[in-house]
Amino acid sequence: MQTPICEELGIEFPIFAFTHCRDVVVAVSKAGGFGVLGAVGYSPEQLEIELEWIDEHIGDHPYGVDIVIPNKYEGMDEDMSADDLAKMLQNMVPPEHLEFARNLLLDHGVPIDSDDEDNTLKLLGWTEATATPQVEVALRHPKMTLIANALGTPPKDMIDHLHAEGRKVAALCGSPGQARKHADADVDIIIAQGGEGGGHCGEVGSIVLWPQVVKEVAPRPVLAAGGIGSGQQIAAALALGCQGAWSGSQWLMVEEAENTPVQQAAYADASSRDTVRSRSFTGKPCRMLRNDWTDAWADEETPDPLGMPLQYMVSGMAVAATHRWPDETVDVAFNPVGQVVGQLEKVEKTSAVIERWVTEYLDVTSYLDELEGRTA
Ligand SMILES: Cc1cc2nc3c(=O)[nH]c(=O)nc-3n(C[C@H](O)[C@H](O)[C@H](O)COP(=O)(O)O)c2cc1C
Repeated sequence: MQTPICEELGIEFPIFAFTHCRDVVVAVSKAGGFGVLGAVGYSPEQLEIELEWIDEHIGDHPYGVDIVIPNKYEGMDEDMSADDLAKMLQNMVPPEHLEFARNLLLDHGVPIDSDDEDNTLKLLGWTEATATPQVEVALRHPKMTLIANALGTPPKDMIDHLHAEGRKVAALCGSPGQARKHADADVDIIIAQGGEGGGHCGEVGSIVLWPQVVKEVAPRPVLAAGGIGSGQQIAAALALGCQGAWSGSQWLMVEEAENTPVQQAAYADASSRDTVRSRSFTGKPCRMLRNDWTDAWADEETPDPLGMPLQYMVSGMAVAATHRWPDETVDVAFNPVGQVVGQLEKVEKTSAVIERWVTEYLDVTSYLDELEGRTA
């Protein structure tokens, strides 16, 4: 399963795992893949603690950090500190959105206390002002060899800075046009995410998108994202010209993940038809488990979701409540996951997933060789 990117990054398998859990980052990298920590929910101080822990436990293996600087968001043209930006944006959140969200939670029997309300009107790491300090923290850690960016091309000066520090830059895209912008800005690795993927995604499915992006940016390496949960799916990605697989949903269903048993049971029960692309949590289309929260915000009679990052300043109270009361909030929880959820049936050890994927990949490639032998 070795592709040129393995040598470039010093890894055994071209398997990249996006996760919010430091234990999963470590387990993936130690098993021969490449773990990437999603930083969007961490303050720079919390991120420093996570990365120190990863450094202590990961041995000599490399890992990455994922940030979010969208190409479009409310307040993006303002040149101000994260605190000032947060204050400006707080004043832009209509009170009726907050009231609608609060009532939705109360109607579902979710206790709302002041702690949760505190989590409203908070600016997460999805602006340049909040992501830049995260990058500076990440750069203090030499085993952190890759910064990936979601939802847009990272600013050119940030890319140049990361290159000068000897790190690689990756960026996600959902169309060949976005991939071209990444390549023109000298992003090293392009991640093509099909519409079936968990989290923010476009509309075009992986099997159509991947080869289009490969063709657009060749010879730059492309990682295939969206719908990977087996070695057969990795073989398909490599057959379509990608140099590796980038996945997210699978890592919610591993023993090392912090996801609660209730959440994992919801994933195990879900079919591939149970997800929806919804703007109801973040303001941009994001694939997640469909539930009463996503349905309520899609109703014509209810407020329209706001843009990013304003909508999270509203939905933050639901996310906080989900963490505190996982059992009570299952119908209104934020559960980003892709359509591949339909094939995630049980919780496995991270190293067992990597082993399974490699075995499945080898089996299917031998099968293809056999087919080739028949016609020879
Ligand atoms: C729970 C979850 C949260 C995610 N959050 C982010 C994020 O903050 N930044 C990012 O670049 N991608 C994020 N993604 C997308 C993943 O990086 C990855 O591209 C996607 O999961 C691939 O599709 P799959 O879910 O079918 O494996 C998230 C995915 C999931 C499942």
